[in-house]
Amino acid sequence: MKSNVYIITGSSNGFGLALAKELSKKNQTVIGLSRSIVGTRPYQFKSFVQYKIDFSKPIEKKLNHILTKHKKDFTEAKQVVLINNAAQIEPIDQIQKLNEKDILKHFQVNLSSVVLMTAVFLKHIQSYKKEKIVVQITSGAAISAVEGWALYCAGKAGVNMFNQVLAQQMKSDSSFKCIGYSPGGMDTAMQKKIRTSSQKQFPELKTFKDYKTTNKLRSPDYVARDLIRALSQFDTLVSGEIIRVS
Ligand SMILES: NC(=O)c1ccc[n+]([C@@H]2O[C@H](COP(=O)([O-])OP(=O)(O)OC[C@H]3O[C@@H](n4cnc5c(N)ncnc54)[C@H](OP(=O)(O)O)[C@@H]3O)[C@@H](O)[C@H]2O)c1
Repeated sequence: MKSNVYIITGSSNGFGLALAKELSKKNQTVIGLSRSIVGTRPYQFKSFVQYKIDFSKPIEKKLNHILTKHKKDFTEAKQVVLINNAAQIEPIDQIQKLNEKDILKHFQVNLSSVVLMTAVFLKHIQSYKKEKIVVQITSGAAISAVEGWALYCAGKAGVNMFNQVLAQQMKSDSSFKCIGYSPGGMDTAMQKKIRTSSQKQFPELKTFKDYKTTNKLRSPDYVARDLIRALSQFDTLVSGEIIRVS
């Protein structure tokens, strides 16, 4: 039996990269999908295959191609995990300032690509009898409105509901679990971007700047270990539910 296989979107930075690093330390196979590719040497990645993909563009053909290519890895693994992690926070602004191009791009990356990625994954692992897990990386912003983050809140709320429907559809398959994971504030490029907005665009700016200066943001490495620990207990996972970082 070979390693488990983890497909991670947004694996080039922040939380996705931390997951790839931690899983690699455990000799797991990671398939990473992002617009950019990271050098693997500094992290001593053992089995980290990266593909360049832009989730704001049409991607179905490319995803099918990638998953077909890794069919052997799936059949040899005890567990296959999809982690829908890639997301953007921008645009951060008052609703009347939003434009069509930015709105469509945001939902394409944060919601439509999550749906498509999950659909393609299901299609490819349909006949696969071993453990399958889909993890949707969500946010507290999916359940609490944040002024200035209209698109981000709406997109993550959409992901949560999508995951509940997925759980319903798959309930008769005991080898399949789909969960949400809420990582809490992490010290990543996304938080950095939040801090570059103006008070007018984002009234809670000072609070978020304080999170950084008072070290309230967790390291993505810590959060990655927390999620990996949760995933290792397949029987305790409840489809449709959201696990919060502990
Ligand atoms: N940081 C936090 O405090 C926090 C809190 C709650 C939830 N979250 C959630 O946690 C997840 C990870 O966030 P993070 O903080 O690690 O973000 P991050 O540091 O900004 O990293 C985002 C990742 O997504 C990829 N990505 C973004 N747009 C993409 C696109 N169009 N196509 C392909 N890949 C794309 C980026 O890679 P490329 O640029 O190479 O494409 C990068 O690898 C997200 O779902 C976020 O919503 C974060």
